[in-house]
Amino acid sequence: MTIDNLNIPTVALGTWAWGDSGEAGDGYFGSRLTRADLEGVADKAHAAGFTLWDTAAVYGMGRSEAVLGDVLKGYARSDYQLSTKFTPQAAGTGDDPMADMVEQSLARLGTDYIDLYWIHNPADVARWTPHLIPLLKSGKVKHVGVSNHNLSEIELANQILGEAGFRVEAIQNHYSLLYRSSEDAGILDYCRNQGIPFFAYMVLEQGALTGKYNPENPLPEGSSRAKTYNAMLPQLKALTDKLASIGQTQDAAVPDVATAWAIAKGATPIVGVTKPHYIDGLVRAGSITLTGDEIADLEALAGAANVNTRGWWEKEMQI
Ligand SMILES: NC(=O)c1ccc[n+]([C@@H]2O[C@H](COP(=O)([O-])OP(=O)(O)OC[C@H]3O[C@@H](n4cnc5c(N)ncnc54)[C@H](OP(=O)(O)O)[C@@H]3O)[C@@H](O)[C@H]2O)c1
Repeated sequence: MTIDNLNIPTVALGTWAWGDSGEAGDGYFGSRLTRADLEGVADKAHAAGFTLWDTAAVYGMGRSEAVLGDVLKGYARSDYQLSTKFTPQAAGTGDDPMADMVEQSLARLGTDYIDLYWIHNPADVARWTPHLIPLLKSGKVKHVGVSNHNLSEIELANQILGEAGFRVEAIQNHYSLLYRSSEDAGILDYCRNQGIPFFAYMVLEQGALTGKYNPENPLPEGSSRAKTYNAMLPQLKALTDKLASIGQTQDAAVPDVATAWAIAKGATPIVGVTKPHYIDGLVRAGSITLTGDEIADLEALAGAANVNTRGWWEKEMQI
């Protein structure tokens, strides 16, 4: 049985971009991050009290987990929480591919347990969910969640775990001002009613909702995120301008307000942190109060932008 409660922070820290190798043309983000940069991010995050780190075995095919494990070595294991994922689409061919992937993640992260383990994407829910049970029983995994599952898949996973005395303890989906499919599909309501934390990933749409990138200063050329977002940047200007003007009234910046919007909707944002000063924005996001009118204005402008930011790995959330 699950013995300790999962501590849910205001904001969790995302490390997908940490998997980029920095080689030209490689990686999703086109980022060039050094170990020293990331140490600075980790130190600042811990000083600010943010301690839940999200990664996945497939981010940079192990690079994100390895560098995360390395930079956290200086902290006591009880001072941080690790969230990583089993990706069915990348499963090996052994008897228990999930157990194998967990062992590889544990080795790269330099630990003997994972605080929060996810099934990254739904493949065959009835096939893969039961593999979580022995991992929970052994203590290698303390808590489990499902990511990118629609409501009926979440319910099936919950039923399978429930029969063994466990439950789906967290949901993780793409959720931002520009992409509200989990809200439309009733997943946020389901989480609220069931007391399940909803983690929102890509609340900043990989940088497109930060105001930092615009047609004059597009996302890094050759990166996957540039291919998705650069053509949309002109349509996002009215929204990022509004995020900026709301921010000005509270001494906050565009990404802080976009993050605060997700918090106001009851979500726990997982924000990709690539620079130490981005942590200051997370601190500010936690103290921003948005009025009902501000939320409505932002959502109206987001709708008017008329863009579809669904990731290639995501499917429609409606059943
Ligand atoms: N379960 C899943 O399928 C799934 C899918 C996607 C993501 N995730 C998780 O969610 C996390 C977040 O998603 P993401 O990293 O893809 O995108 P994101 O959080 O929407 O955007 C991250 C990017 O926004 C920029 N940024 C962040 N804070 C900023 C600030 N304060 N000021 C200016 N720019 C800022 C950075 O770009 P620059 O580095 O260019 O400055 C950063 O790389 C991931 O790292 C991962 O852990 C999970």
